[in-house]
Amino acid sequence: MSDEIRTIGVLTSGGDAPGMNAAIRAVVRQSIAHGKRVMGIRRGYKGMIEGEFVAMDAHSVSDIIQCGGTILQTARCKEFMTEEGQKKAAMMCRENGVDGVVVIGGDGSYRGAQALANCGIKTIGVPGTIDLDIACTDYTIGFDTAVNTAMQAIDRIRDTSSSHQRCSIIEVMGRHAGYIALSCGLANGAEQIMIPEKYDYDEDRIIRDIIYRRSMGKKHYIIINTEGIGNTDKLAKRIEEETGMEARTTILGYMQRGGSPTARDRVYATIMGAKAVDLLCEGKSNRVVAFKNGAYVDYDIDEALAMQKTISEYGYRVCRNMSKGYGDPIEEV
Ligand code: ADP
Ligand code: F6P
Repeated sequence: MSDEIRTIGVLTSGGDAPGMNAAIRAVVRQSIAHGKRVMGIRRGYKGMIEGEFVAMDAHSVSDIIQCGGTILQTARCKEFMTEEGQKKAAMMCRENGVDGVVVIGGDGSYRGAQALANCGIKTIGVPGTIDLDIACTDYTIGFDTAVNTAMQAIDRIRDTSSSHQRCSIIEVMGRHAGYIALSCGLANGAEQIMIPEKYDYDEDRIIRDIIYRRSMGKKHYIIINTEGIGNTDKLAKRIEEETGMEARTTILGYMQRGGSPTARDRVYATIMGAKAVDLLCEGKSNRVVAFKNGAYVDYDIDEALAMQKTISEYGYRVCRNMSKGYGDPIEEV
């Protein structure tokens, strides 16, 4: 092990995600296990620029593994997008004796980690986002909890939709990615999912499908829509006008980002956080931890950011097939 790193910094950045606390805890405890000092940096890169460094010990992360949110808080920081901001942040790391930083966040935060590494501070990224939209990894911390939260909410909406024979359009998060919508589509048995990777903006097809399924006696019609696709309220209005079926919308919103992390999120967070510390202790920098093809691995950040992610074609097709079987005349997308 290299002796170069004496103090490891840890921060959370971008949108928070359940399991970030478990990752912070893992960074702190693995660092201590390696004989390193740890500094928490509050409010992401914003706090780094503003000098919000706090010493952390094993006790400071006790009783947080089960908590949602992030005890270090998070932020989106415009100043850090500038060279001046990055230099200031690196200087603050040096002033606080921080030689290496673990950045827990999404790919925007990785770009920040890349910039910080260019300023001479060693960095390792850990994937923390509910969106699962980081190309180099098959798993991101927070996804499982978010999907379970959304799934439970959609189950409840389905109950009342059936009672009232309504169409429900439920908007889930995901930014530019349909992973939450696809997983909920499969887990909730939705009639339709609208995901950015596939959606063709053909509302007429949905209208025809609703009319047909109603004629076959279907009691409800669940549409899971990824945020950012079309206008959910307008679609509901059009459905009511053109199908005669009452339509209601629910935007699940920020509830998907909160709550106690599932076992899956706690386990991934703990191993990934610990691995980030191991990488720093091995003298590595400008890398990200990932889970790929069943193994915990690491990639160069530049390489990771250049990768492209595609949604499972097979998963999408299965999701569509699960809502068929009514002598379905509806064309494929
Ligand atoms: P996420 O990490 O969840 O993708 P953002 O895209 O909002 O979230 O990024 C989080 C923060 O990372 C930004 O507010 C900014 O401070 C920093 N960041 C994002 N992109 C860059 C970039 N190109 N260069 C430097 N810092 C960046
Ligand atoms: O990146 C996670 C995410 O929750 C996205 O799904 C969503 O679009 C975005 O963050 C919302 O971010 P903000 O907290 O800035 O509103």
